[in-house]
Formats: sequence, C-alpha cells, structure tokens
Amino acid sequence: MNAPLSPAPLAIAPINDTDVETVVTLWQRCGLTRPWNDPHSDIALARRRDNSTILIGRNSGAIVATAMVGHDGHRGWVYYVAVDPDCRKRGYGRVIMAAVEDWLRQAGIAKLQLLVRRENAQANAFYLSLGFAESTSVMFAKWLDGRDPTP
Ligand SMILES: CC(C)(COP(=O)(O)OP(=O)(O)OC[C@H]1O[C@@H](n2cnc3c(N)ncnc32)[C@H](O)[C@@H]1OP(=O)(O)O)[C@@H](O)C(=O)NCCC(=O)NCCS
Repeated sequence: MNAPLSPAPLAIAPINDTDVETVVTLWQRCGLTRPWNDPHSDIALARRRDNSTILIGRNSGAIVATAMVGHDGHRGWVYYVAVDPDCRKRGYGRVIMAAVEDWLRQAGIAKLQLLVRRENAQANAFYLSLGFAESTSVMFAKWLDGRDPTP
C-alpha cells in the first residue's frame, strides 16, 4: 500500500530516555545543531523541570518531528523545531507547533516567541504560514560564562 499523500496522523508525546539518540540524529540531519550547543545537554536541561519539555511526533512509531517548548513564567519559547527531511510538506510541522501552543496554553502562557536565523528562508516562510508575525524588537544575547558572542 502506498503512503498517504494527505497529512498522516502524528502521535505527540514528551520525549523518553530511549528517544534521545534518535532525536539528536534528527536534529543533526535537519541542520539544527551548532558547535556551541551540545544537544544532549540541551535535552537534559529541558527535561530537568516541568516548565519545559521536548515534544516528539511519531508516525507509525517512527520519530518524524520534534519541538523543544518551555516558558520562563511570562512568555513561551520554542527551539529545535524539526521535521524529518523525508517527511516534509505533509503538515507535520504545523501539527507539532499546534501541540506546542496547546502545551503553553495549558501552562497559562499567552504568547509564544521564537528565534529564526534570517538566512533560514524555509523556516521564515513556515512560521508566517502558521500566523506568526515578525517582531520589531532587537534581540540581545550574552553568554554567562564570559565567552565571546556567537552568531
Ligand atoms: C520548517 C519545518 C519544520 C517545516 O516542516 P514541514 O512539516 O515541512 O511543514 P508543514 O508541512 O507543516 O508546512 C506548514 C506550512 O508551512 C509552509 N512551509 C513549510 N516549509 C516551507 C518551505 N520550505 N517554503 C515555504 N513554505 C513552507 C507550508 O507550505 C505550509 O503552509 P500551508 O499550510 O499554508 O500550505 C521543516 O522544513 C524543517 O524541519 N526544517 C529544518 C529545521 C528548521 O529550520 N527548523 C526551524 C528552526 S527555527
């Protein structure tokens, strides 16, 4: 039987210990890892408290989508939004982001913010399609261990 062309069902659940290596590999395949971010540490930190988690989307048991979501007590943030390169344009990105929004609503958070690299045209188009508007605010950043700024 051929795979369906319309959006296939995506089962969403928080990450398990056994998912970690598959998720890191997916992030690497999606170009989301950076030398200054250790994905294993990022996952461990996001799982440490109940104000953040990593949502996993599975189709037929296979991990095809992820999103790290959390809040700081005021705003919600999302990172590591990824859809398997072999499974794009099927609506999985939209579905995992809807789960992110639900997770934040349940936490009582009213606004979701996110950062996109300017050169990431596909992600910019994706978020515009989902109803996000570009902010006019400037982002400032500082490493708290004193190292030089990273891009
Ligand atoms: C961005 C990403 C998550 C989109 O996932 P996806 O499953 O292909 O997205 P969907 O199929 O749910 O698409 C949702 C909407 O975004 C639009 N969209 C998705 N990818 C797009 C692209 N490359 N160019 C233009 N529009 C795009 C779709 O057309 C769709 O709009 P519509 O419903 O109005 O037709 C995926 O391409 C990805 O993992 N990219 C690499 C990692 C990344 O850059 N993540 C974001 C970091 S900030």
